[in-house]
Amino acid sequence: MDIQLNGVSKSFGDQLAIDRVSFMINSSDICCLLGPSGSGKTTLIRLMIGALKADDGMIQLGETVMPSMDMLHTIGFMPQNDGLYDDLSAEANLEFFGSIYKLGKSELQKRITEVLKLVDLTVDRKKLVRNFSGGMKKRLSLAIAILHQPDVLFLDEPTVGIDPILRRQIWDQFQTIRATGTTIIVSTHVMDEVLECDRAALIYNGRLIAYDTVPHLLDQTENGRVEELFLIAGRQGGAGHA
Ligand SMILES: Nc1ncnc2c1ncn2[C@@H]1O[C@H](COP(=O)(O)OP(=O)(O)O)[C@@H](O)[C@H]1O
Ligand SMILES: [Mg+2]
Repeated sequence: MDIQLNGVSKSFGDQLAIDRVSFMINSSDICCLLGPSGSGKTTLIRLMIGALKADDGMIQLGETVMPSMDMLHTIGFMPQNDGLYDDLSAEANLEFFGSIYKLGKSELQKRITEVLKLVDLTVDRKKLVRNFSGGMKKRLSLAIAILHQPDVLFLDEPTVGIDPILRRQIWDQFQTIRATGTTIIVSTHVMDEVLECDRAALIYNGRLIAYDTVPHLLDQTENGRVEELFLIAGRQGGAGHA
């Protein structure tokens, strides 16, 4: 499912958090939202999933103008700070979130087994989340986000605090999910992770400073480092607040 943003702006009080952002995410792409802390990645994701309403501009998921409750079943969302229940097992967490999507009992049990396998938590199924490591919580949070087989998956800094080996595994899982036709939007402030994506939107002070395929973005740099694009934007003054 395509996603289109057209002149989207959002302020909090008198602070402009998103400033006239326009771009289009292609169906079945992995699109990276790359930007430093505070640049507006989470706000942009919350606008796209319909948790926030833009002050200006328009966001469309397929033909549907956001925000729309109709898209609840179409969208999967992994928040920056996972909303897991510590006193429940992994399985019980999945059952709870599955009930929100009104999955039937046998369908839900089948899906729970599938997603736990995908994120490699099958043996930890009955364990309380309280006893999970940070990486296990991230993986359970991913399992919850894909439980209802969404067409579009939003992942807000999914690999923060994850060691390199596990990070590799998680990116492999994203590739597996994308191979099923799911569109993935993933935010990060880790420049390396861009190389895993098809396209990247570079966000700086609430503005879109570049959007292109990853090879094209790298062509614009001198040393093949994505960071350079932020430095160029800073020098050109194209990224400061008006
Ligand atoms: N609910 C909110 N109320 C007030 N300011 C907010 C709120 N959410 C985000 N902001 C501000 O908007 C800007 C962008 O924040 P955010 O989208 O969280 O950035 P990022 O996810 O890239 O770190 C920041 O300056 C932040 O302080
Ligand atoms: Mg954020």
